[in-house]
Amino acid sequence: MADIHTTGAGAPAIIRRSDYRAPLWLVPDVALDFALDADATQVRATLAVTRNGDHDQPLRLDGEGLVPLSITVDGIALTPDQWSMDGSALVIPLSGNAHAVETLVTIAPAANTQLMGLYASGGLLCTQCEAEGFRRITFFPDRPDVLSRYSVRMTADKALYPVLLANGDPVASGDLEDGRHWAQWNDPFPKPCYLFALVAGDLACNADGFTTMSGRKVSLGIWVKAADLPRTAHAMKALKDSMAWDERVYGREYDLAAFNIVAVADFNFGAMENKGLNIFNSRYILADPETATDMDYDAVEGVVAHEYFHNWSGNRVTCRDWFQLSLKEGFTVFRDQSFSADMGSPAVKRIDDVRILRAAQFQEDSGPLAHPVRPESYMEISNFYTATIYNKGAEVIRMMHTLLGPERFRAGSDLYFDRHDGQAATCEDFVKAMEDGGGIDLTQFRLWYSQAGTPRINATLTHDAATGEAILTLSQAVPPTPGQPDKKPMAMPIRIALFDRASARHHGDALLHLTQAEQSFRFPGFSAPPVLSINRGFSAPVVIDSDRSQADLAFLSAHDDDPFARYEAMQQLMVNVLVGTVAGQAMDDTPVIAAIRDTIADSKLDDAFIAEAIRLPSESYIGDQMLLVDPDAIHLARDRLQAKIGATLEQEWRALHARTEANGFSLSSAAKGARKLRNTALLYLSASGAKDADAIAFAQFDRADNMTERQGALAVLASGIGDHREAALDIFYNRYADDALVLDKWFQTQALAFHPDTLAIVDALGRHKDFTLSNPNRVRSLYGAFAANQWGFHQGDGAGYRMVADIVIALDSLNPQTAARLVPPLGRWRRFDAVRGGAMRAELERILATPGLSKDVTEQVVKSLE
Ligand code: ARG
Ligand code: ZN
Repeated sequence: MADIHTTGAGAPAIIRRSDYRAPLWLVPDVALDFALDADATQVRATLAVTRNGDHDQPLRLDGEGLVPLSITVDGIALTPDQWSMDGSALVIPLSGNAHAVETLVTIAPAANTQLMGLYASGGLLCTQCEAEGFRRITFFPDRPDVLSRYSVRMTADKALYPVLLANGDPVASGDLEDGRHWAQWNDPFPKPCYLFALVAGDLACNADGFTTMSGRKVSLGIWVKAADLPRTAHAMKALKDSMAWDERVYGREYDLAAFNIVAVADFNFGAMENKGLNIFNSRYILADPETATDMDYDAVEGVVAHEYFHNWSGNRVTCRDWFQLSLKEGFTVFRDQSFSADMGSPAVKRIDDVRILRAAQFQEDSGPLAHPVRPESYMEISNFYTATIYNKGAEVIRMMHTLLGPERFRAGSDLYFDRHDGQAATCEDFVKAMEDGGGIDLTQFRLWYSQAGTPRINATLTHDAATGEAILTLSQAVPPTPGQPDKKPMAMPIRIALFDRASARHHGDALLHLTQAEQSFRFPGFSAPPVLSINRGFSAPVVIDSDRSQADLAFLSAHDDDPFARYEAMQQLMVNVLVGTVAGQAMDDTPVIAAIRDTIADSKLDDAFIAEAIRLPSESYIGDQMLLVDPDAIHLARDRLQAKIGATLEQEWRALHARTEANGFSLSSAAKGARKLRNTALLYLSASGAKDADAIAFAQFDRADNMTERQGALAVLASGIGDHREAALDIFYNRYADDALVLDKWFQTQALAFHPDTLAIVDALGRHKDFTLSNPNRVRSLYGAFAANQWGFHQGDGAGYRMVADIVIALDSLNPQTAARLVPPLGRWRRFDAVRGGAMRAELERILATPGLSKDVTEQVVKSLE
């Protein structure tokens, strides 16, 4: 098997954090001149370079697929012996300490299928440079610690590209001969090249304004295709809310006269925080009731905020190197999570965020691709835009916030921005600022940056009747991960409360500081054993193993005043029954059904929380609780429990479904909560086997005045084998055939369905005329969703694995970043039986044997096989 630690022929090189060296040359100023054209764009770059330190090394400029058409130094053309290529990098020996270096290249945006660098999307020209796309545009030191002031001039055909945007502020524009025009943009803030952006196209603008806390007026623009203009209001509101929130909560003000956002249809990720010119996957901008679910609305709000917040956490203070990626991403995710919590329901937001963390990050942390929040090495940095860097990184920041409290955390963040404004910083710089500004010692806490793996905490509560003490013993273990066999105990805040059984009350939260492998905490004043509520608010990103009985969990599911802990007690109650059933035990499911009945009858709870609390854990979450995942047994157990809950509480589901029927669409929390609960009630009613359930689902589908209810009903119908399945799918398709974002839902709903023929359905959809490998959203909607459908993907004959591997291979030559994202589901082979595991490995081997495989996919496959 290929060994990534030896550099065999063609094996991608490994980049190590320990090899970091300061740049040899700096580029304080750069002027770019683009003659834009979809097939052949000319890029003239003039770099003011300065020698950094005392050395005699040549200037080395990264490039990818570039050929220098001319090179001048201080205005004098170089002869071929005065420069050379080292691989794809341009090397120029320079005699002095400061020079002006100009290069000219031609690039082909329309042929750029990787969607990195300058590319074409639906008639637009746009850029994506993070992490290393700028080197596909021009020769440059493509590393985040080289900060430059940019001036950008663009010329383009005025009819095709009437709008020309770049970073910073517009300074001048005008018309040229031959129907061309030009525009000049300057960005006064020094930035790394990964934050460079330009957009050219026929775009309409939702124009608005914001006055900052110091009274400066900022013009805001959201640029989309003219037909999409009515769908930009929610994003604009989110932008203005974000700007105000960052002033109020972090004291951070916007710093340019213009802030623009552009939505594009073909995009590898969610969005990009380019200075003053954010570029978005259109799915995180466009929303209206007819086409967007409430989840979509919330995602738009969250991602708009995320990218806006990067203006400080990412742009004003950027990363020294890509190993520090979580410095900006973890912090910014924490900031956007806090913002969304403030805009809506903090309880439901926390539950959602933990569900995402567990589904994506815990899985990553327990498999072959596990890595620390600050990785030590990589082959391809694009593979490190992970749930660990983003979501676990956010949890690490959140724990500091919990340890410090809001005021001292704010003192720490103020110091961080103050100290490092205009710099390329490290995770260590952030932690140090928190220590100095917040007044705390984070020595042991730093392990969260270097140790991978999800800590498991064992919690045992005993009671000493003689002293009246409750004694909580916590022990922790961090499992081994690739390259890290032995782990040290970590420092973490564990929030708990001890409930008196009789009164169902407690004497307040305690924030425990767990630092040792095993630690005991004593609580006086208990004449009888209390009930333990632990990791309240999910104060630490860990797994808690406790010996709490089903009766205790049922007690907490009815009485815990911490919404997360209450939700969690209910989930644990369900998980225990499901895992026991899968293991062949006869489990008593009456406490689950009783808890659900009581929860839906509790008038003090809001609908959104009820919907979260009563929903069954996903099949893959159940699988995560088991050493060996049995997808069929899990599906069966969950399906049966769902049917029993459905049938036992059938009248309740009918009543809930009727009660939550709204008249008139609103985005209020109450209305959103009602829709969420209505979909859940429909799901259980349909699971009950009631004869009219299919008709009720179809009626909801048919009459809905919003996408949340329409798609909720479609998902129920698509999982069934009832009469309305085909009809609903056809109606949906025809209604939205020319709306790409809604068509994605049509593909995704079928790929996620609990239908016995899902594999054949997905296979057929892969040949549908509306399926294309060239649009990442479409690929994710079909194959990304399918690979997350545990029962469908892991069907016993391995056909699911083969199908996904085929797509990885086909997509790799077009778009390696998106192809690499489909590999991790195949890498979980150790968790499945020998037949499934062998089939998964065989597909990984087959991918690896593909000639010309990208670095992106190679890294993921090699690590998955190790
Ligand atoms: N910085 C962007 C964001 O999180 C994501 C960029 C992803 N790019 C990549 N090559 N993985 O807001
Ligand atoms: Zn980000």
